[in-house]
Amino acid sequence: MQYGHFDDEAREYVVTTPRTPYPWINYLGNEDFFSLISHTGGGYCFYRDARFRRLLRYRYNNSPTDVGGRALYIRDGDDVWTPAWMPMKSELDSFECRHGLGTTKIRGSRNGVTAEMLYLVPLGETAEVCRLTLTNESSTVKTLKVFSLVEFCLWNAWDDQTNFQRNFSIGEIEIEGSAIYHVTEYRERRNHYAVFGVNSPIAGFDTDRETFLGLYNGLHEPEAVLEGAPRNSIASGWAPIGSHCLEVELAPGESRSFVFVLGYVENPDEDKWERPGVVNKEPARALMARFSETAQLEAAVAELRDHWSSLLEISTVESSDERLNRMVNTWNPYQCMVTFNMSRSASYFESGIGRGMGFRDSNQDLLGFVHLVPERARQRIIDIASTQFADGSAYHQYQPLTKRGNNDIGSGFNDDPLWLIIGVAAYIKETGDFDILSEEVPFDNDEANTATLFEHLRRSFHFTLENLGPHGLPLIGRADWNDCLNLNCFSETPDEPYQTTANREGRTAESIFIAGQFVYTAPDYADLAEYMGFAEEATAAREHSTQMEAAILEHGWDGEWFLRAYDFFGNKVGSHECEDGQIFIEPQGFCVMAGVGVDDGRALRALDSVAERLATPYGIVLNQPAYSRYHVELGEISSYPPGYKENAGIFCHNNPWVMIAETRVGRGDRAFDYYKRIAAAYLEKISDVHRTEPYVYSQMVAGRDAVREGEAKNSWLTGTAAWNYVAIAHHILGIRPEFDGLRVSPCIGAEIQNFTVTRRCRGAVYRIRVTNSLKHDGPLLKVNGETTKGTLVPYAPAGETVDIDCET
Ligand code: BGC
Ligand code: NOJ
Repeated sequence: MQYGHFDDEAREYVVTTPRTPYPWINYLGNEDFFSLISHTGGGYCFYRDARFRRLLRYRYNNSPTDVGGRALYIRDGDDVWTPAWMPMKSELDSFECRHGLGTTKIRGSRNGVTAEMLYLVPLGETAEVCRLTLTNESSTVKTLKVFSLVEFCLWNAWDDQTNFQRNFSIGEIEIEGSAIYHVTEYRERRNHYAVFGVNSPIAGFDTDRETFLGLYNGLHEPEAVLEGAPRNSIASGWAPIGSHCLEVELAPGESRSFVFVLGYVENPDEDKWERPGVVNKEPARALMARFSETAQLEAAVAELRDHWSSLLEISTVESSDERLNRMVNTWNPYQCMVTFNMSRSASYFESGIGRGMGFRDSNQDLLGFVHLVPERARQRIIDIASTQFADGSAYHQYQPLTKRGNNDIGSGFNDDPLWLIIGVAAYIKETGDFDILSEEVPFDNDEANTATLFEHLRRSFHFTLENLGPHGLPLIGRADWNDCLNLNCFSETPDEPYQTTANREGRTAESIFIAGQFVYTAPDYADLAEYMGFAEEATAAREHSTQMEAAILEHGWDGEWFLRAYDFFGNKVGSHECEDGQIFIEPQGFCVMAGVGVDDGRALRALDSVAERLATPYGIVLNQPAYSRYHVELGEISSYPPGYKENAGIFCHNNPWVMIAETRVGRGDRAFDYYKRIAAAYLEKISDVHRTEPYVYSQMVAGRDAVREGEAKNSWLTGTAAWNYVAIAHHILGIRPEFDGLRVSPCIGAEIQNFTVTRRCRGAVYRIRVTNSLKHDGPLLKVNGETTKGTLVPYAPAGETVDIDCET
């Protein structure tokens, strides 16, 4: 069942009923100011950090779901309704929400009045702007009262939800004209405040929640609105809100627009006050002046549209499959931008409070983002590398505001260091910016202890080598990519976090995933070492990789697939000898991606085992059989009920590793088949089962052992976005930048017969026409009409256009 449709031309998903199976959201904002907004206007916004600079209050895990954020009420005579449907769940004559690239437009109508709210965060602004357009479609004059509503969070979102003995007494507000200023804590150490203004005179306002709603009322029954009378309340402590009341008279057929600005403003220390005790509002006035006319807002919308067009034209595909086109051209890169911006901080499944930027997550997010804005990827790499320790290990997370490593989580996830090499290699392949390797970068943010970025990579690589276990395979530490495989944790006490509870001392638990990751990483690392003039290091790296491959084949092969790990006691994890958890997806994907077993048939065997044991119609589950009881020696993985999350859920992040692995052994039909099983646009028709947005990936879909098989959770912020982009664009469609040329090597099976890819890279444009006849052993290329050998097309000078014909 569907709840809307794609509008490919407008690059929007059009939600046509408010009753979606879950709130379907969008992200507004590109760099500093971000909003989460659902199809009914729920969500919140923040400046940079969803924990410490949150403007709007939001209550997660609430019932009803998704109340809060922004609301807009219309009073038409005695009839009060909410055009976004929530919070009053008004019966509407029509409803539509268009989630687009950085814009969300919600339209509802009732009794001849249509209200349309267009939300965006204009480029370069730290504000969420909303154009409200009211249209009278009836034949009589309409006299309306419009009430806006936002509920302010007291900046620190954690404190806001917990520390009521303090925060019930700190809320403060100022009013000036039509602007409501939220200035809580400004009197002391904050130089920032929020402003909520509208470009029109107002008939009244409210800033105290209790006065506006009534103490025992919900947002669906605000007393001030129901009585049609704003109270002009001034909040003092408790819960400050911002509500304007506008009186609007509309002749039949008449339309009027208003612009609301919800902004974040920061003053310099010396200009904090206008006069003693009065906040300096100058920058806020200037902000509102930039949007005092609707034309200014329309210009901002056009600018944003052009911005996205120029980003998305960097890489496009034209094929006969519109779902493929819309994923590759629009929605997958869009999600990659969002994951790059947010890491795992703020979504409808991540509270914005708990987690900062992940070391491994951010390196992987780069993979799907680097072609869009390489300069930002560069900065991100420097930020991430600056949280590495001198011994090559790394903080697992860092805080976005301070960019410091997070001590609560610490380090000890032994896959982390290698992801830095993977991220840096991807950046250099895209840009050719080898100079980044010579940048001086601190360890643990200590400017007194720095080394070149290449040296950071060297330490990453050698960290793995210095931490090998009894079989010559990498020690897992607290966990590897699979956060829930905690082989040294042995937690018997409720409430202990699996990832941070003191581990048992021991150098026995080994990860075949990290081993595969090491072999995957080694060729790029060796090439970079060579580039830097370290020929011996390059040779040594290749030898280490050969040894690791041998260790995998000797100790990491179970007969039909790759093992997952050795536990603390040296017992196998992911072996046919195990009771549960006999086979895991991660090492099959990563080892084959790395080329392990490709020559001797083991790669094929492993992938066939995946197809036989792990593949389901909804995607490939993580392991089988699911753990049916808690295993103290395995940790969190066995804490989940069968079929959910890391215990045999479909973890959409690692499915693309298998897709890429299938292309490695030349089975494009299988790769594309797996792709379609989890790619959002292909699931639109089963939205009632899948439940999350049909335009973005979710982290997890419940697996075949789960009670709710096929149901997705945790949409948006997941490494799934980047890896699926890599799988489809780089390996299945097969166009990928390498250090010294653009690789053109499609592997998509028979279904998509012809397609065209346009790819901009390092200033040149490549137009690639693929005739997918599957007649040849490998792709045959003509570059600008000339037959060439192999599949690597040397980079053309910036400004040139290269025409490539590729026949498979
Ligand atoms: C989740 C993982 C997540 C981890 C982060 C676990 O509970 O299952 O997916 O990465 O927490 O700490
Ligand atoms: C989510 C985490 O963000 C990611 O780092 C991890 O690899 C997966 N969960 C799998 O556990």
